[in-house]
Amino acid sequence: MRKTWWKEGIVYQLYPRSFMDSNGDGIGDLRGILGRLDYIASLGVDIVWLNPVYASPNKDNGYDISDYENVMEEFGSLADFDALLAGFHARGIKVVMDLVVNHSSSEHPWFRESRSSKTSPKRDWYIWKPGLGPGKPPSPPNNWKACFTGPAWEFDPGTEEYYLHLFAVEQPDLNWENPAVRQAVFAMMRRWFERGIDGFRMDVITLLSKDPSYRNLRPEEGMFSPTAPYVYGPRLHEFIRQMRQEALSGFDIMTVGEAPGTTVEKALELVGEDRGELDMLFQFELMGIDHTDGDKWRQRPISLVEMKSVIEGWQLGLAGRAWNSNYFMNHDQPRSVSRFGDDGAYRSESAKALLLLNLSLCGTPYIYQGEELGMANVAFPSIKDYRDLDTLNYHKEALAAGAGEAKVMASIHYMSRDNARTPMQWSAGKNAGFTQGEPWIGLNPDYRTVNVEAEEADPASVLHFTRSLTKFRKAHPCLVYGSFELLAREDPRLFAFIREGEGERLLVEVNFSGQATAGVAAGKSPRLIFSNGGAGGGSTPAMLGPWEARISALN
Ligand code: GLC
Ligand code: CA
Repeated sequence: MRKTWWKEGIVYQLYPRSFMDSNGDGIGDLRGILGRLDYIASLGVDIVWLNPVYASPNKDNGYDISDYENVMEEFGSLADFDALLAGFHARGIKVVMDLVVNHSSSEHPWFRESRSSKTSPKRDWYIWKPGLGPGKPPSPPNNWKACFTGPAWEFDPGTEEYYLHLFAVEQPDLNWENPAVRQAVFAMMRRWFERGIDGFRMDVITLLSKDPSYRNLRPEEGMFSPTAPYVYGPRLHEFIRQMRQEALSGFDIMTVGEAPGTTVEKALELVGEDRGELDMLFQFELMGIDHTDGDKWRQRPISLVEMKSVIEGWQLGLAGRAWNSNYFMNHDQPRSVSRFGDDGAYRSESAKALLLLNLSLCGTPYIYQGEELGMANVAFPSIKDYRDLDTLNYHKEALAAGAGEAKVMASIHYMSRDNARTPMQWSAGKNAGFTQGEPWIGLNPDYRTVNVEAEEADPASVLHFTRSLTKFRKAHPCLVYGSFELLAREDPRLFAFIREGEGERLLVEVNFSGQATAGVAAGKSPRLIFSNGGAGGGSTPAMLGPWEARISALN
């Protein structure tokens, strides 16, 4: 496969609102990040992905953008952004921004203009439809649902039509059928590249093209079914190719599309190296592994055998044809150690084990802020402590439908997006060193023990492990470009595979349990070259201790 920096790089995801507050207003900001550049560089990462920092009324924490060319006031200014970009570049770190162009904020001047009258020149920049039936107001044009609950259509009393919003009411979908919309977006993208950024993470990019029939969602189709009429719509590939030609070409940048509704087959259409579309995508199959019938609020236990099979499917499915992006969490998901590891007795070991697995797979690894500390889920006592609109909507809707408070809160404790959004834990001091003021969202009380300062002082911490792991991956290009072969497929505790290439043959073994378990007997004399040390007890060449994760050379 073609070798590039974004295949070899390790990405660190920054959620600016929760990373570091520099001015005491309780909200993380760009100057806050600027003060932590050396920390980020010390992790050995090569690329950062910044969640949206554009002007926004913050109904959905910056995913509702009211000005694509300016920085959110709470986060700072364009000058701060330029300083941050220069600071990263000076440390050899590339910067990838979020691109949110399936929808804008309803406060964007484009939408204000669009909703002002049916004859506005921008009317057609969004998706407007008359309602159905004689009612006042009439019924919505079809049965599509919005991601954060409720119908996907909002009636506008001023012009007596509905507009489409696949997410919140304040996030109207842009009309990509309109060439002027595409031109405006492409020009905006080019301006960011000219400013010096190194790529885009493209929000819900698979939803851009809507089936012009606007047919109803079928009963068997979930919101993000691959066949839903707005998932991989008829013109998606055309739009992305035009984007490649008119916005991306000529720049040495990377693109990673967030891709709801993607199967391996669909992925090859969007990121196949022969397709000239995007570089990488985020699939959701792994993140759906504990959902019931596509509903993330109805959780089921994770089976390691199923998890291995999903990961193997992607590793082999894209091998030699497209490039994976690997992640165990992001700003929309629970903390990885709480979901896939054990945030109780084995927090530190299992956090390390997950990092080791992530950085040993084929594909570009993404580490989310705090993952390098083993930060865990929070369980706020009351719904009043939550900020995420998705969580608040679910709570309201579930209670209205008769669910009990305790059950709803348990589901929120496990799955809420706010688990990933509690402030970064810098020290055991006031507000974990995140802010001098009142933080916009509460802290995880475990900050007294889980924090950067404490982990700096502890050579056995997840933090120090992360640094040696990134170094290790750099020293072993086999982990980047080698092939993948799953072993011990049916083993309910052991995740083991072989990576081979670049002159090496490496055996990776991860014990996904709190009990000692047998490793695989691969080859004559595996030579241990990297390990998380496990939890002690049971570790031998043949056995892995609880949550032990190790890499051995087989040649
Ligand atoms: C993506 C983002 C998420 C946001 C949604 C709507 O899934 O990751 O945070 O709420 O798109 O923009
Ligand atoms: Ca601030």
